[in-house]
Amino acid sequence: MGKQRVLSGVQPTGTLHLGNYLGAIRNWVEDQNQYDNYFFIADLHAITVPHDPGQLADQTYALAALYLACGLDLEHTTIFVQSHISAHAELAWLFNCITPLNWLERMIQFKEKALKQGENVSIGLLDYPVLQAADILLYQADLVPVGEDQKQHLELTRDIAARLNFQYGSETHPILKLPEPLIRKEGARIMSLTDGTNKMSKSDPSEQSRITLLDTPDEIRNKIKRCKTDPVRGLSFDDPERPECQNLLTLYQLMSGQSKAAVAKECTDMGWGQFKPLLIEVMIEGLRPIQDRYTEWMTQKQELAAVLQKGKDKADAIASDTLGKVKDALGYSHPL
Ligand code: TYM
Repeated sequence: MGKQRVLSGVQPTGTLHLGNYLGAIRNWVEDQNQYDNYFFIADLHAITVPHDPGQLADQTYALAALYLACGLDLEHTTIFVQSHISAHAELAWLFNCITPLNWLERMIQFKEKALKQGENVSIGLLDYPVLQAADILLYQADLVPVGEDQKQHLELTRDIAARLNFQYGSETHPILKLPEPLIRKEGARIMSLTDGTNKMSKSDPSEQSRITLLDTPDEIRNKIKRCKTDPVRGLSFDDPERPECQNLLTLYQLMSGQSKAAVAKECTDMGWGQFKPLLIEVMIEGLRPIQDRYTEWMTQKQELAAVLQKGKDKADAIASDTLGKVKDALGYSHPL
């Protein structure tokens, strides 16, 4: 039996933060040699909220460089840009016509983002999970590694696939594979540094709320020194009254690569004054190699473009095949 196929993506909006890294990319990297991997840059999703056309292409390249800097290995992994493959938008349209509107109106992320946008909500923002379903189902992915906030979108993806299979396929010949979400317990929901009850997010207006993968040592030091804590002495996981403590210990655990038990033991009698320098140290040292590799990739734009071209060719072949199957099932004619 061949390897299972894994697919996931990140939007090229703003610099990636620790939530994106610990919730998603780190897991892609860690398990990549077990799977046949496809990771893409979700640039069609990036225009569902107002964007700067002067920056989109640069941010797309920068994200590709960051994927590679985080350790994606081209021997196991195909990296490509969503907008380079027209099948994503085309399949999304076909899905639009079988997806009930009320499935989309229920989406938590839509409700949250729409609230922030006020009156300027685009149809694209509402339709975003349908495009995401197309992203995944085009590749007949088995597994989709994401953070907790994408769980509902993955459920919708499965519902769309099941609906299409039921309406246009047969039980013995399903058209689309139903993917499984891969959400790790630890790191699936990294919280803001200024409020442990809110998730770390690119759209939080406060820079202080997140550490990005490209923050300098000074920025990391300042953000951790000033981050929200509590007045309790002794640090422990899993106390619902202490969300900041839970979050900062999790960051320390994941960035230091220790087990939860080892961290719990090490920190049990510590105060924040003792803990914060340790966290600062693992953070700076953990991000340094990623930053070094990123800087190097950013000086090799030609190579980066070649990686994305190769990725496009490989991904396009799979995507076209699936799109063709769906169009056949829906009864479309073929050009001569
Ligand atoms: P995006 O760009 O918002 O986030 C990329 C990945 O980072 C995870 N993530 C987090 N994980 C833990 N803690 C956090 N605070 C945190 N914030 C973000 C997200 O869960 C995600 O895995 N819709 C997607 C992109 C996308 C996609 C896809 C993903 C488009 N098509 C198909 C998978 C498959 C998004 O906006 O992710």
